[in-house]
Amino acid sequence: PLIDRIFNASNFEKDLAKKLGIERAIIVPGNSDRQERVFEHVSEQLESALDLLLPLGKNIITVLGGSTVAKAAEHFSPKLNRYRELLFVAGRGALGESVEIQSNTIAQVMAAKTGGKHQGLYLPENVSSEALDILIKDPNIANAISNIYNSDAVVHGIGLADEMAKRRDLDVITRSKLREKGAVAESFGYFFDHQGRLIDRVPRIGLQLEDLGKIPHVFAIATGAEKAPAIEAYMHHAPKQTWLITDEGASNMVLKGK
Ligand code: BG6
Repeated sequence: PLIDRIFNASNFEKDLAKKLGIERAIIVPGNSDRQERVFEHVSEQLESALDLLLPLGKNIITVLGGSTVAKAAEHFSPKLNRYRELLFVAGRGALGESVEIQSNTIAQVMAAKTGGKHQGLYLPENVSSEALDILIKDPNIANAISNIYNSDAVVHGIGLADEMAKRRDLDVITRSKLREKGAVAESFGYFFDHQGRLIDRVPRIGLQLEDLGKIPHVFAIATGAEKAPAIEAYMHHAPKQTWLITDEGASNMVLKGK
C-alpha cells in the first residue's frame, strides 16, 4: 500500500532529502516535462502523506497557487476527510493569472474533492500599503489570514524564475535583470539564484516564507527535470519539516550533482 511506501523511503529518496536538508522526499516515477501522468502519482502521494501526518479532527490546510498544486488537487478523494474536518484556505490573493491555478480555486477544488470546506482570500496581489491596512481590517479577510497562520499544513509549488516573472507581469527590464543575476527559482514572491542567494523580492499578501517554519507540516510540490535547479535553489530556504514531492526527472538531475 501507498502508506508503506511513504513510511519506507527508498535510498534515492533518503539521499535527496539529505542533500536538500529537509525531512522527507517522495519521488514518483517519470518526468513531468514529458509525461502528464506524473501528476496523478503526485496527487496520490500528497493525499497519502497528508493522511499519514495530519491529526484527526479539525485541520486547516493552506494552499498556494500554480499549475503543479492545481494538478495535485485533481485526484484527492473523500478519504482524507473521513475522520477529519478539513478547511482548505487560500494562501494568496488572486495573482492576475489564469483562474484555474489561483490558490482560491485550488482550495475550492480540494474542498470539493474531499468533502471539506474552503475559505478564499479575495484580495488583489498588488495593493498600496494604505489600501492593505484598510483591507486587512475586514472581518472576512482578517479571519482568513488568522487561519493561514494557524494552519496544520501548507501545500506550495516552486516556480521557474523566468516563467514566474512573466506570470507576475514584471516589466521587461526587471525580467532581464533577474536573468542577468542568474535567478532560477521563485517561491513566495522571492527570486533565488542557483546557490539560493536572494535576487529580488515581490511583496505579497498572505503567507510569507518567513512564517513557513511555524507551520507543522509543509509540502513542496515540484516536478520535471527542468525544475531541478529551482528546487535546489529554493531548498536553501525551506524549513526543515518540509516534505518534497517530486519526480524522477527532477530528482535524477539534483542527485547527479551530488
Ligand atoms: C505560484 C506560487 O502560484 O506557483 C509560486 O505562488 C510558485 O510561489 C508557483 O513558484 C509555481 O507554479 P508552477 O505552475 O510552476 O507549479
